[in-house]
Parts: sequence; structure tokens; C-alpha cells
Amino acid sequence: MNGHDVVSAKEIVLSDSEAVARHAADFLLEEALRATDVFRIALSGGSTPKRLYAMMAQPDYATRFPWTRTQFFFGDDRFVPADSPDSNRGMLQKILFSQVDVPPENIHPMPDQGDPDAAARAYETVLKAQYGAATLRKDKPLFDVVLLGLGENGHTASLFPRQPVLQEKTRWVAACTPDDAPHTRLTLTYPAIASSRYVLFLVTGAAKAAVCARVRKGDPAEPASHITSEGRIEWIVDKDAAA
Ligand code: 6PG
Repeated sequence: MNGHDVVSAKEIVLSDSEAVARHAADFLLEEALRATDVFRIALSGGSTPKRLYAMMAQPDYATRFPWTRTQFFFGDDRFVPADSPDSNRGMLQKILFSQVDVPPENIHPMPDQGDPDAAARAYETVLKAQYGAATLRKDKPLFDVVLLGLGENGHTASLFPRQPVLQEKTRWVAACTPDDAPHTRLTLTYPAIASSRYVLFLVTGAAKAAVCARVRKGDPAEPASHITSEGRIEWIVDKDAAA
């Protein structure tokens, strides 16, 4: 297997969350520089990626990163205004986008107003325009890199346990209202995430060790276990989460 699912995926265990963020920042920089054309990233919320985004805003990365030919999408976001502390869009704007020379038109936040289902369809339209087609092709990934975290209840992006979005086979984006976490959210679906060259799971902290072990074994009860990629999946974890 070539790392297409969470079990066959390569695992890299690092000392702590700082090292995980550094590894991811180096990976993104290298991949973005290697790409000859447009580079597309789907960003995640969560605490570990926050360190990554802060790192990318440091001169070391910010002066070398090809901001003008990178397109930034969101893997999920809460359906709240950007000035809410729970908004991934707001977090990214503050920590990364306002700090670097990224053209505003390269940032594609998820809509946060009106009807969530209509908003999900609107975001799907944005993705389809970027992709240049209305159906996904196995040999043409939608994203170069999809960043994902892992919740203690096994969710990733906003693919939450027991929610209809887990059955979604055709739509690229859907709304999800978890029964065990606040806020309705918009999220990429399994098929949209699968249309990727790389999926990186960033997982840190002892609280994630048990769920991480279950997902790494492919426990079907965990939503994250069903993530696949046409490309490669990598687990970048700290030693506490790997324990
Ligand atoms: C978000 C996410 C979500 C997150 C996990 C892990 O917006 O919160 O995209 O899927 O990655 O909940 O979050 P932590 O890294 O904060 O534990």
C-alpha cells in the first residue's frame, strides 16, 4: 500500500507539538516550492495547526513561501462570524494571513451566513471553479495537501460521529451539526479529502493517544478511520499521542 488509508499511512513520531509544527511547516514549504504551478492547501483548525500557522508567519518561512501561487482553502469551519473565537477563518486571518504577503484573492474562507446547506453548496461551487470540473477525477487531485487534526471522539475536519455527512459520497462540502460539540459546521466530505496528493494528520498530546491508536488500527467506529487519499497519508504525531 502506498499510504492511501489511515492504516497503511506512514507515521512520523516527533518529540513534541513544536517539532510536529516544524515538520509540517518544512513539508509545506518544500512541497509548495517544488510545485511548478498553483499549489492548493486545505487548512484545518485545532491547536496543533495553530503553532504551524504561527511558524509560517515567521520570516524564516514567510520570506521563502510562494504565497502568490498558493491557494488556501478550509477543510472545515464553524458556521460562526469570522470575529468569533471559534472561527478557523478568524484564527487564520489573525495568526497567518494578516502577517504575510498573500494576495487576498488566494484565500477561500467557508461562507458563514445564511442557510448552512446553501453555504456548503456555495463553497463546493468555489472548489469546482478552482478544479475546473464538476466531478473529481482520480488522476487529478483537488488539493496538493489537506491538513487534518483528530478529536478525542474520533472526528477529523468536521466529520463527527453519528452524523449524516459520514455517508456523503457525492457532495464535496456539507454541513454538519455534531451532537457532542458546539456549532453547526461546514466540512469537506470524505470524497473531497480523498482527492489529494497528501493528507497530513497532525496529532499531539497524551489525551489523543487512545483515539490515535484506534484510528491507526482502522477502527470503523471512528470517523477519522475512513479518511483515504488518492495520494499519500502521513501521521505526524508527538510521542505523547503515539504512546
Ligand atoms: C477544528 C478542526 C478539528 C480539529 C480537531 C483537533 O476546526 O477544530 O478542524 O477537526 O482538528 O478537533 O483539534 P485539536 O488539535 O485542538 O485537538
